[in-house]
Amino acid sequence: MSITILGIESSCDDTSAAIIQDGYLLSNVIANQNVHKAYGGVVPELASRAHQQNIIPVVDMAIKQAGINKNEINAVAFTRGPGLLGSLLVGTSFSKSFALALNIPLVEVNHLQAHMLVHFIKEKNAERLIPEFPFICLLVSGGHTQLVKINNYLEMEIIGQTIDDAAGEAFDKCAKVIGLPYPGGPLIDKNAQEGNKYAFTFSKPRIKEFDYSFSGLKTSFLYFIRDNHKVNPNFINENMNDLCASIQNTIVDILMDKLIAVSKKTGIKNIAIAGGVSANSGLRNAILDEAKTNQWTTFIPEFKFTTDNAAMIAITGYYKYLNNDFASQDIAPLARFKY
Ligand code: KG4
Ligand code: ZN
Repeated sequence: MSITILGIESSCDDTSAAIIQDGYLLSNVIANQNVHKAYGGVVPELASRAHQQNIIPVVDMAIKQAGINKNEINAVAFTRGPGLLGSLLVGTSFSKSFALALNIPLVEVNHLQAHMLVHFIKEKNAERLIPEFPFICLLVSGGHTQLVKINNYLEMEIIGQTIDDAAGEAFDKCAKVIGLPYPGGPLIDKNAQEGNKYAFTFSKPRIKEFDYSFSGLKTSFLYFIRDNHKVNPNFINENMNDLCASIQNTIVDILMDKLIAVSKKTGIKNIAIAGGVSANSGLRNAILDEAKTNQWTTFIPEFKFTTDNAAMIAITGYYKYLNNDFASQDIAPLARFKY
């Protein structure tokens, strides 16, 4: 008998539902929220309201696109956290009612674990290399930056992490300084393709062992722009592409230094990246270059699996389902949620 999981993701500003059957992705529907663009960042209250509007049509579409009947679903896997509480509440409440109505179990999923399990999603028409355990994953998103040793589907150890801002935050905040709209990460990436990454240099932080720090870089970028703007009011416009390429290069270098060090220390050469910032072309190229030098086997997610999506929630739910790891109906979402 097949195992069919409905995944629900609502931790930030994307409402998503996906169907995974026996590890194969049948559908993955995502509704983005444009309402935040005007505010330069996600407004939690608006995000929560948009999730409420989106969740039913998104789930309905995911079930239709998968070509299944809702009675075939064996369990509902949902993001319990970490994330914005008001956003998480919508996905959690919906999942509980759906599971209750169909009399099927609930599976709670940690959003960060889910990002790292995208490498196990199978698709009928796409051959994909699946990582062997253990592997190292550099998880880089808007809220988190972690180096993780993955021993098994649900057994993960954090080896290092940011002590302040996340890498995605660094991209977004630097983008804001040079007038790019939120989220600025993808725009920095786009402009960087036309720029010289060695045009400007920014100092890298000295942080112990495998931890990261990005708040100093953001501040020094801000001061650098402010000082140059005083001398030349057109400084940003005249140097936009070089600024983007240089700040991207610095962030990627900081990420790569520790990743290389962790691989050397552990001897693990199976290297994966995950999370929103894993879409960054500078980071993807740096991983591929390093793979040649260090004989790494690399796992780089397809773009559609880098940012928030429910396919990753459903695949994590699938492995938890196989482990009989179920949640009760009185479960509550958690804004902070360690795995
Ligand atoms: O994983 P994600 O979708 O949401 C969180 O769980 O945080 O990551 C969103 C982050 C944002 O900071 C966004 O700017 C960044 O990922 N991002 C990128 C790129 N695409 C998305 N940063 C740099 N380059 C990109 N191409
Ligand atoms: Zn995420």
